[in-house]
Amino acid sequence: MALFHLTADWICYFFISLLCLIFIVFLCFCLYIKYIHLKYDHIPGPPRDSFLFGHSSTMLREMSNGRVIHNKFLEWSQTYGPVYRLNVLHTVTLFVTCPDTIKEVLMSPKYPKNDLVYKRLFNLFGQRFFGDGLVTARDHDLWYKQRRIMDPAFSSLYLQGLMGTFNERAEKLMDKLGEMADTHTAANMHHLLNCVTLDVITKVAFGVDLDLLNDSDSPFPKAIEMCLKGMIHYVRDITFEFNPKNWKYINKVRESVKMLRTTGRKWINERKRAVQNGENVPKDILTQILKTAGSEENIQNDDEELMLDNFVTFFIAGQETTANQLAFAVMELGRLPEILAKVKQEVDDVIGMKQEISFDDLGKMTYLSQVLKETLRLYPTAPGTSRYIPKDLNINGIHIPAGVACMFNSYVSGRMDMFFEDPLKFDPERFHHNAAKPYYCYYPFALGPRSCLGQNFAQMEAKVVMAKLLQRFDFSLVPGQSFDIMDTGTLRPKSGVMCNIRHRGQNTTG
Ligand code: HEM
Repeated sequence: MALFHLTADWICYFFISLLCLIFIVFLCFCLYIKYIHLKYDHIPGPPRDSFLFGHSSTMLREMSNGRVIHNKFLEWSQTYGPVYRLNVLHTVTLFVTCPDTIKEVLMSPKYPKNDLVYKRLFNLFGQRFFGDGLVTARDHDLWYKQRRIMDPAFSSLYLQGLMGTFNERAEKLMDKLGEMADTHTAANMHHLLNCVTLDVITKVAFGVDLDLLNDSDSPFPKAIEMCLKGMIHYVRDITFEFNPKNWKYINKVRESVKMLRTTGRKWINERKRAVQNGENVPKDILTQILKTAGSEENIQNDDEELMLDNFVTFFIAGQETTANQLAFAVMELGRLPEILAKVKQEVDDVIGMKQEISFDDLGKMTYLSQVLKETLRLYPTAPGTSRYIPKDLNINGIHIPAGVACMFNSYVSGRMDMFFEDPLKFDPERFHHNAAKPYYCYYPFALGPRSCLGQNFAQMEAKVVMAKLLQRFDFSLVPGQSFDIMDTGTLRPKSGVMCNIRHRGQNTTG
């Protein structure tokens, strides 16, 4: 009996001590939050929803029901000026639209990518995802080594050699659209453009033919979609994975990541075998990825994982963004007949009836470039980037103590009337070569050393697809669809951009 009492007393003491300890830790954490508030509260910002969770409930509310959080960021930028602050727990993130700071921070290698976003994307719900690949690598040396290795696959000379593939894949889309025009079937342009860009990246980057326009059973588009949607929950809502009602969904996201990495392992091994057998392999992205693993004989597990990180990175970064840009461009052209007529005229003047578009032709279609640039101003499909500020900084006269993350949001900058007159108007003339160049307020591909490696690749591909579309077809938007934006990490049109397609010259009723 005495032993029972003694044990009960000990258990009691243990729990009381544990509760005290938890209370003390919580108190220390609150004091730390208070210290952070005192340190950064001189920077303007909206009122916090709560001491502990800062602005997170407003942000979660803004993200619910498919709303675009970037509109709230825009509203706050307009209210609080070129730098404003948001708090969540003990972290502070600054939202910056000051062009001089954008220039200083993004153009310099001294400001690494911040952990809050990029370290988190190492895994997706516990499954290794982007890892230390090119987009997420935070260590400068590790990133620089990979970037140097990947650069040759994006050199101007190498890209010119890809014109054949761009033409060939775009031609498959034209065949599909031709069938739809013949059968008077409305085309879900977003879906079709997604298939083309995925076909292009798998062919060009990994040497694999998917032919997604004719294979609707392929698991890849769905897997990419799951990863992107999962990514946004994972990065923006730290409580998401602890809610049992989300567990089934989270498992599906994990399965999608696993499927991409398993595919990567298979394709990498096939390529390795081809290299070992002395076969002639293309100098494509996959060949460059193999080089990131160091010497052939001494491939460690870490190297293998790094190759898969880059495989997933290129699979995802190299596809959605371009497809969404194209879909937004079709959407805007469908709404603006004068701009559509002008860009069609240019395409007719430059390529006429020619089937194979050359690299030189691309340079001559300057108005089409303007249309694509303007599309990314209003709809930057990868809407921003962020950096860690390791040393004190001054933004527009406001002292910024070191230790915060800065977000640079091209959706916000691109829609501010202090940078672009009548910002919601789609006007390609803003990018005419005689117009004033936007000063660090337009950066859909980010800027500086960590800017998009695939920028030229993406714009060449986009131009080939658009030029062929405009050359061959008249299209009109199916009435009654939404022109809203959907935020799935990347920005995409909410509707599928449904279009009625006709062969050019065919009359409307025909
Ligand atoms: C319209 C199409 C595209 C847009 C708008 C876009 C935009 C961006 C942006 C904003 C970043 C910076 C991301 C960040 O800092 O978090 C980025 C990075 C990157 N993008 Fe793209 N991208 C596009 C197409 C592509 C394509 C087609 C590829 C590859 C074939 C690609 C490969 C990459 C890579 C590897 C990085 C990381 C670069 C580094 O940190 O060294 N992107 N892209």
